Amino acid sequence: MNVPTTHTGLEKWVQEMAALCNPDTIKWCDGSDEEWQTLTGLLVDSGTFIRLNPEKRPNSFLARSKPSDVARVEDRTFICFKRPDEAGPTNNWADPAEMKALLLGKFRGSMKGRTMYVIPFCMGPLDSPLAKIGVEISDSPYVVVNMRIMCHMGAKVLRRLEEEYSGALPKQRDGHGQFIPCMHSVGCPLEPGQADSSWPCNDDKYICHFPDTREIWSYGSGYGGNALLGKKCLALRIASNIAREHKWMAEHMLITGLKAPDGHVTYVAAAFPSACGKTNMAMLIPPQEYLDAGWKTSVVGDDIAWLWPHEDGKLHAINPETGFFGVAPGTSYSTNPIAMDSMKENTIFTNVALTDDGDVWWEGMTKEAPAHLIDWTGQDWTPDCGRTSSHANSRFTAPAAQCPTIDPNWQNPDGVPIDAIIFGGRRATTMPLVFQAFNWGHGVYLGATMGSEMTAAAAGTLGKVRRDPMAMLPFCGYNMGAYFGHWLEMRRYLTHLPRFFHVNWFRKNDEGKFLWPGFGENMRVLEWIVRRCKGEAAGHETGIGWIPAFEDFHVAGLEGFTRKNFDECMAFHHAEWKAELVSQSEFFIDLYDSLPKEVLFQRELLTARLS
Ligand code: GTP
Ligand code: SPV
Ligand code: MN
Repeated sequence: MNVPTTHTGLEKWVQEMAALCNPDTIKWCDGSDEEWQTLTGLLVDSGTFIRLNPEKRPNSFLARSKPSDVARVEDRTFICFKRPDEAGPTNNWADPAEMKALLLGKFRGSMKGRTMYVIPFCMGPLDSPLAKIGVEISDSPYVVVNMRIMCHMGAKVLRRLEEEYSGALPKQRDGHGQFIPCMHSVGCPLEPGQADSSWPCNDDKYICHFPDTREIWSYGSGYGGNALLGKKCLALRIASNIAREHKWMAEHMLITGLKAPDGHVTYVAAAFPSACGKTNMAMLIPPQEYLDAGWKTSVVGDDIAWLWPHEDGKLHAINPETGFFGVAPGTSYSTNPIAMDSMKENTIFTNVALTDDGDVWWEGMTKEAPAHLIDWTGQDWTPDCGRTSSHANSRFTAPAAQCPTIDPNWQNPDGVPIDAIIFGGRRATTMPLVFQAFNWGHGVYLGATMGSEMTAAAAGTLGKVRRDPMAMLPFCGYNMGAYFGHWLEMRRYLTHLPRFFHVNWFRKNDEGKFLWPGFGENMRVLEWIVRRCKGEAAGHETGIGWIPAFEDFHVAGLEGFTRKNFDECMAFHHAEWKAELVSQSEFFIDLYDSLPKEVLFQRELLTARLS
């Protein structure tokens, strides 16, 4: 085997994994343009990729997955600790030794007839004290090219790891010289002469995490968070464990900069569940009157934030990713022009429709659908055929560097200071457009009790409200009650505390229509949040938190939006909140053993304020 590394620990691991999986060849990925050309060419030849019309969408590709492999599989996601209570009641637990034995069986010979790719990658800017190096071994070239967009990857990361390992670089972060091993196989070995599928995968899926040994093993799926192991598996499930130990936070949050007319940029981080508007908010373009007044927004990240108490006493954040893996349906020049401009070229589309001129289309991209498409299953599609052309969880993988509003500090190893933390979900009822928590403990309670209607980002029941604390229900790599405790504890390490807010863009009227226009107009809510952070805006104290007064909420320019509309968006209905409290307590019953007292007391305080 040609071993292009001086890292003997890495070399040994790769050799062991090759012996286990028995691939035809091993390829160490360098992340170069030539490698991209070769692999995308190979993916086109094998039928996994369709090259899009280079005049419309240069260097871009469409992939169509198997209909059985279209989203994260939460019921096949495991957290493997020695004791079940370490994983907690909201995770699927498995015994690490038993799961490892089972996985070794699955991976034995699983790469037969395929190439094993070795992908050194780094989550976070290489020089950041929080950055983490991982090495993913995968038999999927689709994974390699997606990883190249989504994180720092290839030769530069391998060199860095070697320098840390050899001691040539001073130790500046934990895990120095080490890497997080990430094993991935689509679980589809090929016998000699056997034809390959255009989307190899296995009906038997295992997405496994071993927090004690910091390992990830993923088997059977080639899609998104199941397969791009730096994202949810490393940057959230494993990282939440590392963060707990080292007093920082790994969160499912966007990070955005809001520049006021006075030139000051307020950075905010927001946790919304999957497919609930993080990408949209990160890329928000303010209404014209805001632009005219001198407001400007910028993107640091759209999905994951790593936050730590900085020497300056503030909470700082980096985005560990370098790309967007965004929901396609609903994305258009009217809802999210920044996303549309970010995916003009060098983009991979998965499970969207193909137009007759070799470009892509999805529901909501334009007002009128094209007369004819090839849908995500490869069939002819016409507007009247009764099916959607794209899967509800179809996605684009686009380089963040192509984003026209990318923040100048997005790769700053020191991160950006966070002044506000925003929680929110999809709630047709109950939750007002915006309110502010009274303090850190109350803010943590708002996060801990977050609810949202389920979306297509995960296999499950669409539309049902489920509790999704801090949008981390599928991503917290340890006991959820202990995670709340960690949140509460973090307050101690900060001298300048961010403010907490709760928002809901999704409230509906009796006819099922959204009460709030959303998208760019959300700037009006963000403006109030920025002014609250600066101590410039007034608020009314209510039982649930601080809310804006109508007089202090900027509606000028919002056509036809009256005080009555505002009151509907902000309304508090006693019966709804009673039901909300009951539903929150049902969720807490499962967590009772590990729930911090302070969370229970917050609940008592809320009950008292509402009674
Ligand atoms: P993940 O990538 O799955 O973590 O999700 P995300 O939070 O980044 O989701 P994304 O921003 O892609 O959410 C897209 C969905 O939210 C689409 O259905 C949008 O139409 C909808 N959406 C986003 N912002 C708004 C809004 O302000 N109002 C309304 N009504 N819908 C919105
Ligand atoms: C999510 O589901 O929250 C995502 C997409 O961001 S995936 O990476 O597939 O998990
Ligand atoms: Mn996400």
